[in-house]
Amino acid sequence: MKFNIAVIPGDGVGPEVVEQAKKALDAVAEAYNHIFIYKEAQLGANAIDATGGPLPKETIEICKSADAILFGAVGDPKYDNDPSAKIRPEQGLLNLRRELDLYCNVRPVKAYDNLISNSPLKREVIKNSDFVIYRELTGGIYFGEKTLSEDKQTAHDVSSYTVKEISRVTHLAFQAAQKRKKKLTLVDKANVLETSRLWRKTVSEIAKEYKDVELEYLFVDNAAMKMILNPTHFDVILTENLFGDMISDVASSLCGSIGLLASSSIGAENGLFEPIHGSYSQAKGKDIANPLASILSAAMLLQYLGLHEEADAIERAVDKSLALGITTQDIKRKMQKSTTTSKVGDFVADYITNQDDSN
Ligand code: IPM
Ligand code: MN
Repeated sequence: MKFNIAVIPGDGVGPEVVEQAKKALDAVAEAYNHIFIYKEAQLGANAIDATGGPLPKETIEICKSADAILFGAVGDPKYDNDPSAKIRPEQGLLNLRRELDLYCNVRPVKAYDNLISNSPLKREVIKNSDFVIYRELTGGIYFGEKTLSEDKQTAHDVSSYTVKEISRVTHLAFQAAQKRKKKLTLVDKANVLETSRLWRKTVSEIAKEYKDVELEYLFVDNAAMKMILNPTHFDVILTENLFGDMISDVASSLCGSIGLLASSSIGAENGLFEPIHGSYSQAKGKDIANPLASILSAAMLLQYLGLHEEADAIERAVDKSLALGITTQDIKRKMQKSTTTSKVGDFVADYITNQDDSN
């Protein structure tokens, strides 16, 4: 089959990890007789440098006409410490989420046996952890009204949610729970926030349609603690935009390397797939960043396109690279040598190709 894939390498290590994901996709295309047509687009600091804005119109068009979007990373340190900067690279990603209505962010977190010794948690605590965060991505405080008073002494960020916004992501989270361990944890701050109370009411109503799923509520502070003390407690976590941003960084540090975690951002019409590690600018151009999160994002992209066998082939290749220790320095701390971004990408692509030959 033929698919159009929008490719946004973005900033920092984005381009180098996306290149490895494309190698994996090309190997899949050859092994399974597909055609992937890539269209590259700019977003973030590179787009600001080239066009003056972080999200050129052309990028939106390329994304809208694609079957799926492969995304690298956004962000550049030159914007981070300047609170008065009017234009920021991150706005490109936020606006793209909004433009394409990518309301559901999915972040799977799994403890790989081979990496447990890299986890900051004790083996017996992290072992068998396997959960997924469903984060609402186009509402809440991220997108509410923002104001700074004329005298610059007071600022506001408004957080608002509608039942409609809560419902659509909630259904996806329940459906995911039905296919997993049938447990859903709603993370909120309902003891303080009105929006959280609306989340609880809406989610508890919807729960009646999913009687096979156990629903629990946790306050976000408690959830962050539990994630560290007892991560196996969780199956599917559902939460609003800001809390999801925070707890997914907590979650990502548990398993040994953030360089392994992929994510998808799904809307009614489109899906965007990206590593969660961000632009990691210190490593830019050094060929040391871990490409596995980007490669696993490509696997999620294939799942989204309905190419399940093909996605499995990528996942098997990633497992193999971890088992053989063909990995970058971030997960080689306790071993002797590591390899480069591009060599990991080559290994994964070769493995996909040869695996198929031997079938
Ligand atoms: C993420 C990132 C973004 C967010 C930034 C880059 C705007 O941290 O995808 O988690 O806060 O959503
Ligand atoms: Mn984040």
